[in-house]
Amino acid sequence: MEYIPYGKHDINEDDIQAVVDVLRSDYITQGPKVPEFEKAVATYTGARYGIAVNSATSALHIACLALGVGQGDVVWTSPITFVASANCAIYCGANVDFVDIDPDTYNMSPNKLRDKLIEAKANNNLPRVVIPVHLAGQSCQMKEIFELSKEFGFSIIEDASHAIGGKYRGRPIGCCEYSAITIFSFHPVKIMTTAEGGMAMTNDEKLANKMNLLRTHGITRNEELMSRKDGQWYYEQIDLGFNFRLTELQAALGISQLSRIDEFVTARNNVAERYIELFAGSNVQTPKLREECLSSYHLFIVRIKNRNLVFNKLRKAMIGVNIHYIPVYKQPYYAKYNYNTASFRCANEYYDTAISLPLYPTLEFTAQQKVVSLILGNNI
Ligand SMILES: Cc1ncc(COP(=O)(O)O)c(C=O)c1O
Repeated sequence: MEYIPYGKHDINEDDIQAVVDVLRSDYITQGPKVPEFEKAVATYTGARYGIAVNSATSALHIACLALGVGQGDVVWTSPITFVASANCAIYCGANVDFVDIDPDTYNMSPNKLRDKLIEAKANNNLPRVVIPVHLAGQSCQMKEIFELSKEFGFSIIEDASHAIGGKYRGRPIGCCEYSAITIFSFHPVKIMTTAEGGMAMTNDEKLANKMNLLRTHGITRNEELMSRKDGQWYYEQIDLGFNFRLTELQAALGISQLSRIDEFVTARNNVAERYIELFAGSNVQTPKLREECLSSYHLFIVRIKNRNLVFNKLRKAMIGVNIHYIPVYKQPYYAKYNYNTASFRCANEYYDTAISLPLYPTLEFTAQQKVVSLILGNNI
């Protein structure tokens, strides 16, 4: 029986050649490909700056630091996300809290965000940063969240790890129209890949410079930023940064993959459409997309009553279904924060019934039919 994973990268001969060309060149790290990749993603999304890093986790970390997140601050995100969306605040010494999800989109609910902000204002505990996560590739309701950011005075980092290639209100996700920073992931199960990798997009020059500095140890060669001048060898460490650099090999792969991004997104939407048709008339709840959104369909999440039975049955049949995600507040590491987990009603209900089905550009119709008939079959 052939294994069908839930996600899979799509590497072609051009991608391979791009990487091989770098291997034969003078630079395998810190050369011209990384800035070329950054520029290409900036052009594609419409953002002014892109800072390429070795993962979306690193992008979230330096985005929080650039926005001044530190001890005593609070960062809010969605509970239905990968742990990295929350961990980034803890890396900075801040606390994390969660905003319950919308029952239709599974993204952070703007209404619940508003309610929580009103309460936090009364308790003098407003968040410094809110991180909406575009789950499965569908944008959050960024306009509403942006308006709340103006009213309550917080910054926004869009976690668009799932969402490069998607659109919101006619503009590419990543353009940062409604946020200070948007981050992408290029992990192989995502829409496009650099093996490991990520990027932080922004329209703010100061944030771009800060993230650039933090990516490379906090070291600068810019004379205007240095305390004194010395020989040509001279550099200064002016901040505490990290080695979060992407390599030239990865950047070359990223440039090549980006040239097919719209193809990937169209193929993913086609696969999603076929699932929706196959499930029509059944009691399986397929994704609900808001009309202002084009999803990049990183994931195809359905809601199903007897989810655990279905999960086990599909795994037994060599179908790599998965659960995205275990609510972050349920993780043992987060127990010490003593969240009132019952208050995340929609996230809890979601977790009991959600399952991600295989979705990638080359997934064949016959494989989809098999997945659907196993789910709908009366011997579940
Ligand atoms: C929503 C979300 N945020 C952040 C990340 C972290 O991405 P990376 O693996 O590139 O660090 C992931 C990865 O799965 C994710 O799904």
